[in-house]
Amino acid sequence: GLFAAGAFAQSDWPARPITLVVPFAAGGPTDVVARTLGASMTKSLGQTVVVENKLGAGGTIAAGYVARATPDGYTFFIHHNGMATSTALYRKLSYNALADFEYVSQAVEVPMTLLARKDFPASNLSELVAYVKANQAKINLANAGLGAVSQLCGLLLERELGVKLTAVPFQGTAPAMNALLAGQVDVLCDQTTQTIPQIKAGNVKFYGVTTKNRIKALPDAPTLDEQGLKGFELVVWHGIYAPKGTPKPVLDKMNQAVRAALKDPAVIQRMADLGAEIVPDSKLTPESLQVWLKSEIDKWGPIIKSTGTFAD
Ligand code: MLT
Repeated sequence: GLFAAGAFAQSDWPARPITLVVPFAAGGPTDVVARTLGASMTKSLGQTVVVENKLGAGGTIAAGYVARATPDGYTFFIHHNGMATSTALYRKLSYNALADFEYVSQAVEVPMTLLARKDFPASNLSELVAYVKANQAKINLANAGLGAVSQLCGLLLERELGVKLTAVPFQGTAPAMNALLAGQVDVLCDQTTQTIPQIKAGNVKFYGVTTKNRIKALPDAPTLDEQGLKGFELVVWHGIYAPKGTPKPVLDKMNQAVRAALKDPAVIQRMADLGAEIVPDSKLTPESLQVWLKSEIDKWGPIIKSTGTFAD
């Protein structure tokens, strides 16, 4: 015939709902970004973007699942810095972060916040530092597993203070936050996309933001850097991927849908309320995501290796 069967199918895309795999628990930071973008993309694509939370092993279960999914344009993946840090944290992964995916786009960048349970006996960062140094073995540090940004943030804090706390892993920071609110864990470093409502409600102790500069959503909150943790900087970035071999026309249309979502006033408002920054247009190409991921692997790999943290 005049048209290849594949080409015909691609011009029809999307003909049914699209799955966007989230590697952490529902209701948490990654999930909030995925559902906010997905709701907007559902409008522009004319098919529902269904968020599927695939939990476990700090996001690496989901990454492996997507790497092996059929590249038919109906499975996509949203992940953050963990796509890079996992390559150093795990001796064996069931996928190759650079070789097994197609790149769609970056989306938003999210600051992190350092928190403790409400009745934790430290009311500011210098008290926290002193208390942590004196009581390190008995302090529980919640995170979302090896490969989570909560884990990376905790690792940077431990390195900075020269301490080793007791890690308590969850399958996302949504359950980690619940444990913090219940007083079952002591300290949590987590993204503003989940923590701003808890900070504003006074449900947690809050010690500062992990960005270089103060953020618009919490203008009175000091950075960790300005309080003496010089050079402490961690910004969470999100990339959208597809299984290797997903057709280029599908990737192009998905890229357009991500761009449209990031211009949707409802998305802009929700992200601003939660402290997330929509990335500049220069970061909305597949090529820029690929280059960025590689640079993040090169940046975090040596830092993680220097701490001796890994999973077999
Ligand atoms: C989540 O969505 O639960 C978080 O992004 C997990 C993390 O990386 O800390």
